[in-house]
Amino acid sequence: MPRISGPAGAGGKLLRRYQFTAKRLVTATPAELLYIDSADNHTTGNGFGASPRPFRFQEEVNRMVALSNEIKEIFTKTKVMPMATASKSGVPNVAPMASIQLVADDTVWIMDNYMQKSLENLKENPVVALYFYDQESKRCFQIKGATEVKTSGPDYERFRDQVKAKSDKYPAKSLIIIKISDVFECTPGKEAGKKVL
Ligand SMILES: Cc1cc2nc3c(=O)[nH]c(=O)nc-3n(C[C@H](O)[C@H](O)[C@H](O)COP(=O)(O)O)c2cc1C
Repeated sequence: MPRISGPAGAGGKLLRRYQFTAKRLVTATPAELLYIDSADNHTTGNGFGASPRPFRFQEEVNRMVALSNEIKEIFTKTKVMPMATASKSGVPNVAPMASIQLVADDTVWIMDNYMQKSLENLKENPVVALYFYDQESKRCFQIKGATEVKTSGPDYERFRDQVKAKSDKYPAKSLIIIKISDVFECTPGKEAGKKVL
């Protein structure tokens, strides 16, 4: 644990920053760790002088991964997926989603029909986690990714028309585009929690 000294205000600020960095370190991917390392070199000698760059992990890393055929098959079989988001201050939220489409090996679309807290969270912290579980094979995968919200343009219009063709009752407010950055196994057993992509 680093020793914090200096003016009370600045010390408090630095302590909070260490705590935040420590919290991130336990959940960061190797690519994120590289970024944390470089972002941490932004303070001057005593650590109080410079304003650190904001930590914008997924956006800055811009990592994308392509799903394998096996994972794609399980994804497309799943009718409803829990979508987890978090506010900038870390308040979590999870909501079931059914208007989901895998549009490319590394890209998922979700229609925002009724999102409230989920949408607010994505605006201030544009990352999500989803999981999908296949009853038959008992396989389960978690996906994490960076998001973009669109309320106009050809992609939005295409998905809106598709959703509204199912039922006009859907408001189809906005398109959530997820670029997949990480995939983990969540099948119970010795592989549980392991990163697969
Ligand atoms: C089975 C099921 C499927 C749902 N699918 C969607 C969906 O595809 N898009 C959506 O915006 N809301 C969907 N909802 C509603 C949301 O889960 C949720 O009510 C809404 O996002 C508001 O919650 P929030 O404040 O947590 O965002 C679905 C709800 C259920 C029960």
